[in-house]
Amino acid sequence: MEEAQLQYEYIEKAKKIVREKAEEKGSKLTCCVVTFGCQMNARDSEKLSGILNAAGFEETEDENADLVIYNTCTVRDNANQRVYGRLGVLNGYKRRNPRMKICLCGCMMQEPSVIEKIKKSYSFVDLIFGTHNIFKFAELLVEMYEADGMLIDIWKDTDQIVEKLPVQRKYPFKSGINIMFGCNNFCCYCIVPYVRGRERSREPLEILSEIRALAAEGVVEIMLLGQNVNSYGKNLKNPVSFAELLRQVEQIDGIERIRFMTSHPKDLSDELILVMKNSKKICRHLHLPLQSGSTRILKEMNRRYTKEQYLLLAEKIRREIPDISITTDIIVGFPGETYEDVLETIDVIRKVQYDNAFTFQYSKRTGTPAAAMENQVDKETVTKHFDEVLSVVQHTAKERAKLLEGLTMDALVEEINEHDESLVTGRLSNNMIVHFKGTKELIGKIVPVFLKECRGFYYFGEML
Ligand code: 5AD
Ligand code: SF4
Repeated sequence: MEEAQLQYEYIEKAKKIVREKAEEKGSKLTCCVVTFGCQMNARDSEKLSGILNAAGFEETEDENADLVIYNTCTVRDNANQRVYGRLGVLNGYKRRNPRMKICLCGCMMQEPSVIEKIKKSYSFVDLIFGTHNIFKFAELLVEMYEADGMLIDIWKDTDQIVEKLPVQRKYPFKSGINIMFGCNNFCCYCIVPYVRGRERSREPLEILSEIRALAAEGVVEIMLLGQNVNSYGKNLKNPVSFAELLRQVEQIDGIERIRFMTSHPKDLSDELILVMKNSKKICRHLHLPLQSGSTRILKEMNRRYTKEQYLLLAEKIRREIPDISITTDIIVGFPGETYEDVLETIDVIRKVQYDNAFTFQYSKRTGTPAAAMENQVDKETVTKHFDEVLSVVQHTAKERAKLLEGLTMDALVEEINEHDESLVTGRLSNNMIVHFKGTKELIGKIVPVFLKECRGFYYFGEML
């Protein structure tokens, strides 16, 4: 039997169990899906919600629910620590609600040391699974309700891509779409290749038909997701470039905006720049992780580009697509990093003039080559360098934002403003945020907005 079909049978079984439990309870069972980490995890969570919804749960944001699932991240250690901290709170809820089930999945669960720790110190957890078998969630749910103790199912790797399971989107008007899974780059600080496995691309026809279906449901903005989208399609039977995939996505009626995440600088082609330049739909935003501006550190990191190559690439992009915004990721405190290296990073920030940059302190990830390096930088030095990099990043980002003040741009209205109900919050093509007067009827619409006032990293505007 086809895997998806099998999982639909488990959904039917789960429905029966959930219905029985709801009768005992006297109301619907509630569930809460909590996402840590990146866009890929956010998309995976929509798949978890899809299954839970199909099984008859009512979704809530309150973690004091009948089923809570944490979709975890392990890219930096602070994400792991947050999970441990919050598990303690969940245990308190569970003591008062014996019906409660606690489930853990995602990247952190692919680490054997994490599983050992949970088995030992968090024995109240009911279900643990990893990144490779998330498509089996319906089956695991059924098994969990039938099991006595903790159920653990972690796969080391997979070559399967299971499509067409239920998905519950967070936003009706925009959606992420996985175009590939895993990563083959092995940047030597990064745990992702170990927890997400080798690179696998989905067939373009599958991707295009999923996007067509989304467009038919009213989705206007899509984000193509992959750890390294620029190497999309290389391992397919009939190889296709990422630029070619974009060209085909562009043809789909109803889709107004196309985004993608993440690009590795070493694989960014001239063909892609050209496709972006000529596109009416691809957003004016490129996330291009730098990590470090020092060629020496880049080599140690196994990034496979130099400072000069990166700068030339950024220059070329800005020249070809002047209204593009470029954002980045930066790591401060990689083993052996000196103040001179930090100054090289700052030099790149000033030259590229990033529109935004996520700056991270290096976090030692067990099992990665960098964790075994002897010249780890002490915490105090890292903090000092980090603060300096952050202040430069903030300064250049504010200057960039200021340049758009007084212009009128299209914004996709995403939600009612969190702090002021008379305002809505919209996103510009370049990924900047603008707040302006409006009502909930505007949500999901693309409207022209005058960018009246820049407030650092966002704008106050007026809809025209
Ligand atoms: N420590 C700090 N930051 C890291 N990243 C990946 N691994 C680590 C690490 N060990 C950052 C990189 C990457 C982003 C998603 O997370 O900057 O681009
Ligand atoms: Fe990690 Fe490098 Fe792969 Fe990005 S490209 S996921 S930083 S190994």
